[in-house]
Amino acid sequence: MARVLSCIQPTGEVHLGNYLGALRNWVSGQHENDAFHGIVDLHALTITETPGLLGQNTLQLAAMLFAVGLDPDVATVFVQSHVTEHSQLGWIMECQVSFGELSRMTQFKDNSAKREADFVSAGLFTYPALQAADILLYDTDEVPVGEDQRQHIEITRDIAVRFNYRFGDTFVLPKAVMPKAGARVMDLQDPTSKMSKSADTDSGLVNLLDDPAVIAKKFKRAVTDSESEVRYHREEKPGVSNLLEILSACTGDSPEALAQQYSQYGPLKTDTGAAVVEMLRPIQARYGELMADPGELQSLLRKGAGKAREVASATLARAQAAIGMTPA
Ligand code: AMP
Ligand code: TRP
Repeated sequence: MARVLSCIQPTGEVHLGNYLGALRNWVSGQHENDAFHGIVDLHALTITETPGLLGQNTLQLAAMLFAVGLDPDVATVFVQSHVTEHSQLGWIMECQVSFGELSRMTQFKDNSAKREADFVSAGLFTYPALQAADILLYDTDEVPVGEDQRQHIEITRDIAVRFNYRFGDTFVLPKAVMPKAGARVMDLQDPTSKMSKSADTDSGLVNLLDDPAVIAKKFKRAVTDSESEVRYHREEKPGVSNLLEILSACTGDSPEALAQQYSQYGPLKTDTGAAVVEMLRPIQARYGELMADPGELQSLLRKGAGKAREVASATLARAQAAIGMTPA
């Protein structure tokens, strides 16, 4: 079984695009791979300033990961800061990467430019070194990531190669892999843009915790077009096709077959909203239970951190020994 690591930052609510595009595949993938899932709160700290928010977001995301179906007995779900080896190896990684290399990271250039007059932390700059630690600590074979993260996996490999050359074979070289394709969910108000938490308005964005009545309303108001023909065609009928794809993701029927069953937009919108509500009902219920039982949630996270630490501590010890640091 390949060791596969995915990490997600606790930076806000999880939406339908995250679920159908990514999280649902994590759930099915947990039985096919040796899956590790980190909630990377230390990475989120690079841009977090409001007191109390980070811990709250972390717990909510953890509850959501369990609610969608990650099984703590199968996958290893952990909070990055609970496994202190991340910070420890992170520093060592910072000393294996150059200022020049970090300066060339596209994500850093974009993020620091976007923050303009805002505070640009040194952590935002050294972020890839911590990410390299995340990956290398677990002897990770595969990291499923989108295009925007490829450069971070490349630099992780460069760091690993450099470390292995300097200090002897220590780290497994990870590979970036394409995530298994999930649905691509578009904004309900602007179906040519991906559903995203950075959308201008909330009305095109379905959060997994939205109230059923709110979800139904958002689908009823979804933008379609001025024709009245239900047909599956991404370019010519983006709004209708988005609804068909979402309905398809809920029912398992193909979007083309579903299109045949509708002659009007109204019923398609209503049915898609209702299908999403039904799909989310057990997830919302489980989420509610976990958030109402902090002891249970904490014990699930302790279990994950314990399993993660078993692997991470051995790797950190190997790295320290390779360098020749004095044992404590
Ligand atoms: P983000 O929080 O935008 O970085 O997204 C986290 C994960 O959710 C990534 O793996 C994305 O590929 C996936 N994702 C985000 N938005 C969508 C969307 N609208 N449709 C499908 N997948 C998405
Ligand atoms: N940088 C990633 C993102 O912005 C999050 C991340 C941190 C990550 N550590 C990781 C992803 C390790 C994969 C593996 O989405």
